[in-house]
Amino acid sequence: MERSAIIAALLTLLCVCAAEDSQENLSSVNPLQVATGVASGVVNGLLHKGQTPPATTTPTPAPYDADKICDNISFPPTFPLGPVFNLSKGIFTSSNIAFQPKTTYVQQTLDYTSVQPLYNAVAAYAATKGLTLANRGEAHITVLTPPEYLNVLQPFISIDQINAIAAPLVQNARFCVLCLGRDTLPINGTLNTVFNVVVRSPDLAAVRSKIFDAYVKAGGDGSRFSATNIFSPHVTLGFRATNPSFVATDLFVENGIYKWDNSCFAPLNLV
Ligand SMILES: *[C@@H]1O[C@H](CO)[C@@H](O)[C@H](O)[C@H]1NC(C)=O
Ligand SMILES: *[C@@H]1O[C@H](CO)[C@@H](O)[C@H](O)[C@H]1NC(C)=O
Ligand SMILES: *[C@@H]1O[C@H](CO)[C@@H](O)[C@H](O)[C@H]1NC(C)=O
Ligand SMILES: *[C@@H]1O[C@H](CO)[C@@H](O)[C@H](O)[C@H]1NC(C)=O
Repeated sequence: MERSAIIAALLTLLCVCAAEDSQENLSSVNPLQVATGVASGVVNGLLHKGQTPPATTTPTPAPYDADKICDNISFPPTFPLGPVFNLSKGIFTSSNIAFQPKTTYVQQTLDYTSVQPLYNAVAAYAATKGLTLANRGEAHITVLTPPEYLNVLQPFISIDQINAIAAPLVQNARFCVLCLGRDTLPINGTLNTVFNVVVRSPDLAAVRSKIFDAYVKAGGDGSRFSATNIFSPHVTLGFRATNPSFVATDLFVENGIYKWDNSCFAPLNLV
């Protein structure tokens, strides 16, 4: 066949396909299927009486664009104090992990296997400085701290009410990673040290805003809880192993510890 004949044949084929396409019975197209790609058995997009709607699959949101939200940070003038560490992007996949309700705080549970290599690297680095680190073999971002719940919120809203607000949102919350943070506090002559991954998360701040609204609605004084002003989301990596009191009681803003941009110690490279 000549080239022009081949092209003509292809064009004919295309026209036929396009024509068949346009003839497709649009009334039989299920808009839910079009929108979600989920087979549902729903006819014409209408639910039969008594038929339960198909489960909608919400796509896992991408982590925040680090160039936008974790950008333009004023690092401490001494930054960086340590070498660059790698961190697995697997830390961002938490929507497949069940929400874990706690009794005095709220957390977003993260995939520890994605964080463990960074902990090992930081522990090895700390060992070269004579500091032995320990951790709890898990990774999470604290969304609401125990002091915030016990001292401020509890008289007005129960942890069950708070968990009900947080449960549908927290595991899907997106965040971006800023740096490896280090926090220190001298206690009785020992310099306690903790390492964190400092993150930013407008999604988690929004969860705190909902908690704030419920607290104020229940009669709480708004001046005693802030959704964003003292919210410093971070992933605790490890802490000095040799001080039992430190292991038993984490450190919070109430202890004068601010685990945020101000604590940036070393850059993190996402791999
Ligand atoms: C289009 O689909 C509807 C509903 O399934 C059906 O009743 C109708 O006969 C179809 N029309 C054509 C032209 O296939
Ligand atoms: C970050 O700074 C750059 C340069 O000053 C600016 O163009 C950009 O809009 C800033 N981004 C954000 C998220 O503020
Ligand atoms: C960090 O990851 C990069 C890219 O995968 C790799 O080349 C480098 O060796 C890693 N660095 C460390 C300290 O593990
Ligand atoms: C510091 O030492 C004193 C005296 O032994 C003790 O009472 C106190 O609890 C210690 N403080 C902390 C934070 O461990």
